[in-house]
Amino acid sequence: MKVKEIIKRMKIEDKLRLLTGYDGFSAVRLDGVATGVQMADGPNGVKTKDGSATCFPYTCLMASSWDRESCYELGKMLGAECRTAGVDLLLGPAINIKRHPLCGRNFEYYSEDPVLTGALASRFVKGIREEGTATCVKHFACNNQENGRWALECTVDDDTLRNLYLKAFETVVTQAKPDMIMASYSSVNGVPATENAYLLKTVLREEWGFEGVVVSDWCAVENLSSAFQNGLDLEMPGNAKITVPALQKAMENGVLTEAEIDGKIERLLRLERFVKEKPQTATVTDGEVLRKRTAEAFVLLKNEGVLPLLRTEKLLVVGWRAESPRIQGGGCAELKTKSQSSPLAEMRKYNENCDYIPAYELSAEKLSALKKYDKVVVFVCVSDKNDSEAFDRKDICFPAEQTACVETLCRHHEKVVVVMQNGSAVETRFAENAKGLLETYYAGSYGGGAVADALFGKTSPAGRLAESFPLSLSQVSSNANFGAKKKIVYEEREFVGYRYYTTYGVKTAYPFGFGLTYCDFKTEEIEIKRTGAYEFEISCVVKNESAFDGKETLQVYLQSFSPFQPKLRLLDFCKVAVEKGGKKRAVIRLDKSHFERYENGKKILLTGKYAVCLAKSSEEILAEERVTLEEENLSIINEKTPLGFFLCNEKYRATALKYFEKAIKVWAFGDENATGDFEKEEFLKNSVYNMPMRSFVYFANGALDEEKLKKIVEELKTL
Ligand code: BGC
Repeated sequence: MKVKEIIKRMKIEDKLRLLTGYDGFSAVRLDGVATGVQMADGPNGVKTKDGSATCFPYTCLMASSWDRESCYELGKMLGAECRTAGVDLLLGPAINIKRHPLCGRNFEYYSEDPVLTGALASRFVKGIREEGTATCVKHFACNNQENGRWALECTVDDDTLRNLYLKAFETVVTQAKPDMIMASYSSVNGVPATENAYLLKTVLREEWGFEGVVVSDWCAVENLSSAFQNGLDLEMPGNAKITVPALQKAMENGVLTEAEIDGKIERLLRLERFVKEKPQTATVTDGEVLRKRTAEAFVLLKNEGVLPLLRTEKLLVVGWRAESPRIQGGGCAELKTKSQSSPLAEMRKYNENCDYIPAYELSAEKLSALKKYDKVVVFVCVSDKNDSEAFDRKDICFPAEQTACVETLCRHHEKVVVVMQNGSAVETRFAENAKGLLETYYAGSYGGGAVADALFGKTSPAGRLAESFPLSLSQVSSNANFGAKKKIVYEEREFVGYRYYTTYGVKTAYPFGFGLTYCDFKTEEIEIKRTGAYEFEISCVVKNESAFDGKETLQVYLQSFSPFQPKLRLLDFCKVAVEKGGKKRAVIRLDKSHFERYENGKKILLTGKYAVCLAKSSEEILAEERVTLEEENLSIINEKTPLGFFLCNEKYRATALKYFEKAIKVWAFGDENATGDFEKEEFLKNSVYNMPMRSFVYFANGALDEEKLKKIVEELKTL
């Protein structure tokens, strides 16, 4: 029967009953109407009671992959695991911005950047949904810290809210069409998220066209009638004995109409239909693929000639975390998993000549024996008390005994490699004398093998930091408004992470976007071509001149010259796999959507002077092209339009050169047949670009006059 038909036949009490959970983790269940939607926490595996789940590489690690296709592939496997486990809807991904390195749930989040977050989460959601498993994107919005999360009052100016904290949600909602959005515990600009009509109705439904279900975070609803009036569809877990009478009263008072309730029921029943129509697909979790994707996502932060390890070397492994790694963070995301691989055991499969000291405290005798090893590999891991839901991290350091151990080892041995297990940015000063540093984050069930593959070079680590690693906490821009307070003012505005560090010249330990590989990548034939007013094609050839297969990450940033805007903003990125000795052309295309932002509640296109930059990281720009962004408005094309407007736009460039090149040469070199290139000299280029077209009439040796110029203007307008 059609959903609308079912709704017509339902009694109002039954409708109200469906607006609250059936039990702790299921909803939309009513005899004769719907058989229920079974939910489970994720986002990095299906939370099942029997512990049969795979722990997928954590979001913090997958974000470092900068690899849309890996995220999609993992999404498919996870979606299929949910299906097998009888789970209809996964409560994830969590896509809040990493505003501060201490946020307890950063390990569940992707990045400090909304473009990276939106792109990767969209592919992940798409993969899960293709397996017939629904997704719930959370926490909408401003769940950027855990301390006091139930009652946080966040004040964020609208431009910052839209451009930084809502942007990834916008991307995922519009591109991947998730089934559910979870309203957070926070109150945003004076209104609890579960009752926030601006967020839930104006932005989510009216502007982004979201057609799915809005659910509350667990026990987040304070005022039931206000929440359902202002956009909530489902309260979780809820209590029908309280909710149904409260909503009946809201109807009597005219706060809620039956038509509004029918809209909510329709969305809920459509969700139930979607999850019941499970497709038959052949997707299964493939351990080998997961192991490879995990190793590829690791970020090689330092390698001074020590990695990869050799099978013939005599090795010493230090630290019990080599045997019992931490593979996930804590809280509702924590899973019982079927397997947990040990990096040490996997390393020994490559090289049996691998001694092991579990303790971090090393006796003088052990230290003096270090000489007999070619290399020392030490595993460090943040405390189990860090990285959890419900509270923030206390520091960004590894336990003191572990950092002291690394420092001591470095004093006694030349070739120390440090392997880090953590869920968010950490201080790395303790490893400054180590020769190798590998960030493995929380690597999940197949992490042990992946660590060994990365250390021995079977897989070249290809990850890039999705968050800046500051030198210390004192550098963080949101310090004054984070932590123990109830009222949080997002005073730093968009200056979060690299947007802050690059603007203010603050030197980090490792910048956003940074990561090394074993491959020797050469980036050649770089072209930044403007193909329209807001269209660019950025391309280059990536050569892999090494004996390792690998992946290179190319990043495109918009550089601003205004002191009021972040110096750099990531516009897009791509991942290119290049085999050893091979080469591949990489292309990134930008269109209007890349230059959109919100100002004063309106979507606008950026205008002004910027540079489009191709980069390896937020601190390593490979090439830049200065551009003036202007809305393509034909009325700005007239005799006085600066020539630069046409010359830096592929659409007009050839025509402009056809008519003006000779005149430019007369002006620049005194001879229309001169062979010099005016665009190669800064002064000449800038002058020509800024001169109005009509000024060249005087240098055209009679070939241009007012009449001809008018015709040229008409021709340019028709292009
Ligand atoms: C968390 C959500 C989670 C829910 C159900 C809440 O406390 O914030 O992320 O999905 O509990 O476990």
